[in-house]
Amino acid sequence: MDKALFARRRRGVMQLMGEGVAIIPTAPEASRNGDVLYRFRPDSDFQYLTNFSEPDAVAVLIPGREQGEFVLFCREKNPEREMWDGRRAGLEGAMELYGADDAYPIEDMDQILPGLLENRSRIFCFMGRNAKFDTRMMLWFNEVKTKTRAGISAPAEFVDLKYILHELRLVKRSEELRVMRRAAKISAVAHTRAMQTCKPGMFEYQIEAELEYEFRKGGSAYCAYPSIVAGGENACILHYTENDCELNDGDLLLIDAGCELDCYASDITRTFPVNGKFSPEQRDVYEIVLAAQAAAVTATRAGAQWNDPHEAAVSVLAQGLLDLGVLEGSLDGVIESGSYRQYYMHRTGHWLGMDVHDVGDYKIDNTWRELEPGMVLTIEPGLYFGPGPDTDPRFSGIGIRIEDDAVVTTEGCELITSDVVKSVEDIEALMAG
Ligand code: GLY
Ligand code: MN
Ligand code: MN
Repeated sequence: MDKALFARRRRGVMQLMGEGVAIIPTAPEASRNGDVLYRFRPDSDFQYLTNFSEPDAVAVLIPGREQGEFVLFCREKNPEREMWDGRRAGLEGAMELYGADDAYPIEDMDQILPGLLENRSRIFCFMGRNAKFDTRMMLWFNEVKTKTRAGISAPAEFVDLKYILHELRLVKRSEELRVMRRAAKISAVAHTRAMQTCKPGMFEYQIEAELEYEFRKGGSAYCAYPSIVAGGENACILHYTENDCELNDGDLLLIDAGCELDCYASDITRTFPVNGKFSPEQRDVYEIVLAAQAAAVTATRAGAQWNDPHEAAVSVLAQGLLDLGVLEGSLDGVIESGSYRQYYMHRTGHWLGMDVHDVGDYKIDNTWRELEPGMVLTIEPGLYFGPGPDTDPRFSGIGIRIEDDAVVTTEGCELITSDVVKSVEDIEALMAG
């Protein structure tokens, strides 16, 4: 993504701030053990505004500041450290490559930052995200307050920057959609490979390896979330990530996995038979989930409310549970009582973007918000018959979810993950080939 895009985003935020100063740190580095760190992934909000992917960095936006509105604190160049830990942009690079008006060493932040707060009415920040950083902000704030006798005013308010930034992140522009479509395509290739490779007797982690091979080969540096590769009844554990069991002939395999590309997530679930052929019971449940997804897709369009796809899916799932004889009563009764939740306990989707469960409010003034072109969401109904004394033995151990990523358009929605098959016939044909 080009430098001008990030400048436009910063301008957009500053226009909405009007006045004040925004302080946005990147993510802290996380220790894995001893002196080993997890691979660094920048904070999404920081990345959205800067495209600066090094650790130890803080962006400050100061609308109207004469000497420059975008200040970046970052690591200085250091040949010795760069030989060990990798290249650094340094202060000059921060200005030349990333468009900072001023760049300062991160070590000097405690000296410089209080001055940037002087005579500013409000501090925009993400309080509560990082307790250590919050404490430092209070110290800077208190330092400005000590100067009021000298005629300097201190900010009077702290404002959560999410009200501005997350609304901007929620609606994806064309550059972002291009990346998200690419991420979706890589993940679709990976799921296709998983279906083609799967055989009884393999282990879940072997399929995980096939998926993640395609992610990395496609240029993705990370999974968007830990891959779920769940054979048989493991599929009924919604966030199953052990992925260490053998895949049995006659079981289904549920895979929920997506790559992250350039800090944008994809999120796909497919469920298919380990041996390539659905049993009649598996097929009956599968067709219900597939029909529920189709209903939710049809309900996804600009002007619809956030909850419409969920309600459309629930209606089909609940009717399906009645038809299977798993639930009794009327459709309205099953929906009203929520008895279907025994088999469908999650919601039908979430926002998707830089975070897999992306930012943005789902309700405004306590009403489900309207979908707008450029919003991206997942559509992921499922049915889960976890084994237990109350579970109909015909379906015990079956867990099925089908998940695609949708971009809201004026006419409806664009499914960007549809390269990977999902009808019973197409899955069986692919696995037979
Ligand atoms: N993979 C996480 C989710 O589907 O929400
Ligand atoms: Mn999802
Ligand atoms: Mn998922």
